[in-house]
Amino acid sequence: MPACGGAIIAPLWVITAAHCFLRFKDASSWIVMAGKHDLDNSNESFQQLVGVSKIVSHQGYSMRTKEFDVALLKLREPLQYNQYVRPIEIWMRPLHPPMRCSITGWGSTRENGPRVNLLQEVNVTLMPLDNCTHFYKGRIQPSMLCAGESEGGVDACQGDSGGPLSCYTGERYQLGGLVSWGVGCGRVHKPGVYTKLQDHADWIANAMTRVLSCGKAETPPCRLGSLPATLSDVGGEVRAGGVTEACPYSWPWQVSLQSEGRHYCSGTLINRRWVLAAHHCNAKMGDMVVLGVHDLRFMASQSVPVDEVFEQAQDSSFPPNNDLSLIRLGEPARSGDSVFPVCLPDDDIEVDDSWTCVTTGWGQTKTLEKVSPHSLHQARVSLVNLTACRSIWGEDLIKDTHLCTHPAAAVSCMGDAGAPLVCQKHGLYFLFGVVTWGSRHCDLIKPAVFTSIADVRLWIKDTTEDV
Ligand code: ARG
Repeated sequence: MPACGGAIIAPLWVITAAHCFLRFKDASSWIVMAGKHDLDNSNESFQQLVGVSKIVSHQGYSMRTKEFDVALLKLREPLQYNQYVRPIEIWMRPLHPPMRCSITGWGSTRENGPRVNLLQEVNVTLMPLDNCTHFYKGRIQPSMLCAGESEGGVDACQGDSGGPLSCYTGERYQLGGLVSWGVGCGRVHKPGVYTKLQDHADWIANAMTRVLSCGKAETPPCRLGSLPATLSDVGGEVRAGGVTEACPYSWPWQVSLQSEGRHYCSGTLINRRWVLAAHHCNAKMGDMVVLGVHDLRFMASQSVPVDEVFEQAQDSSFPPNNDLSLIRLGEPARSGDSVFPVCLPDDDIEVDDSWTCVTTGWGQTKTLEKVSPHSLHQARVSLVNLTACRSIWGEDLIKDTHLCTHPAAAVSCMGDAGAPLVCQKHGLYFLFGVVTWGSRHCDLIKPAVFTSIADVRLWIKDTTEDV
């Protein structure tokens, strides 16, 4: 049942009203429908339905005063922008009554009326706050906007909450407010009351950066083949196709783990203080984490000592089920163009063919004749499903905690012992795996095996929060 409206402000973010989440606080019980017109038609061509991974309600929201009625929904997957799904910016210039704006929603079309299936729109006039205060006897705060007609008749109503009050700049629409409350709908001298978003611009920006500053590269990945890497047999020797030198600093979360100046593994920066690495890399306190480096022979933008290494509880299985370590940095990484963390996928997000995956690392094997071992290299890789992977490696070797890809990504082909598998959707990169054990010789048919990140979200969260 449509509960509330909202507006897209970024690929992963929808803004809406805080009061929508008083009853259902659990992110997983919500779904965002974008690109919709007719809610009754479940196969509209441009619809995008995505789950919600996080609800960030304004901590100041008060049921009594209805102030700070704003919340952000972080989506589980980024929206794809097109003609029907696009973001709106927040209106930051003064909003002068009697300016006219539009409201849209699937709420009731009259007081106590039913909700509707087709998106409705109506124009409303912004009202001076004094008039509104008069109509609502002191219940109007400066961070609210009132709009409607003083004689009533046009208004939002139940079910429209959180939806956009869109105002035209002369060039484009910007978001002036969100449907928040009113007495009845469309009554005389009872205009609709909206959350004035420009007053919350800092809260919005901060909430978004707190939760999401990951997965974007300042230098976009380049020289990346348009097809996944391949392996072929050239006169008895295996050769890789589609592995290329990365453009410098285009994978800003990639770090080099070094001991006594020697690179021994890759790691992945997941936030300013933490690197995720393969446990088998055996990182130790005092080793160096080298960030923002392309060619290992040259200066890096930062080197930070390993402060402490954390591993998951191990059982006695061999090969180990969980081949991951978390490395705490001696000092926080300075994010910038060449140093930036990757995003972690929300739990139970599965990589499928709608994502493009890439593995990156240093090192050399015979397979990579033309690639410099000192420069970071990259390869697009295709995924292999667990069933197919098990049929080659054997039932007991491949656990549900693994992720398999085309053999080209294996350590013995790519040369890197702890290479990350990052997958991208709509330009945002998420870490899905860290390379683990595999075939000793770059093998044409044996898939590369990664430890999957999705199931260890909780461990990562607990470890990186606690200490
Ligand atoms: N709180 C309502 C909702 O949950 C929206 C009320 C807007 N009312 C109005 N008269 N403008 O949908």
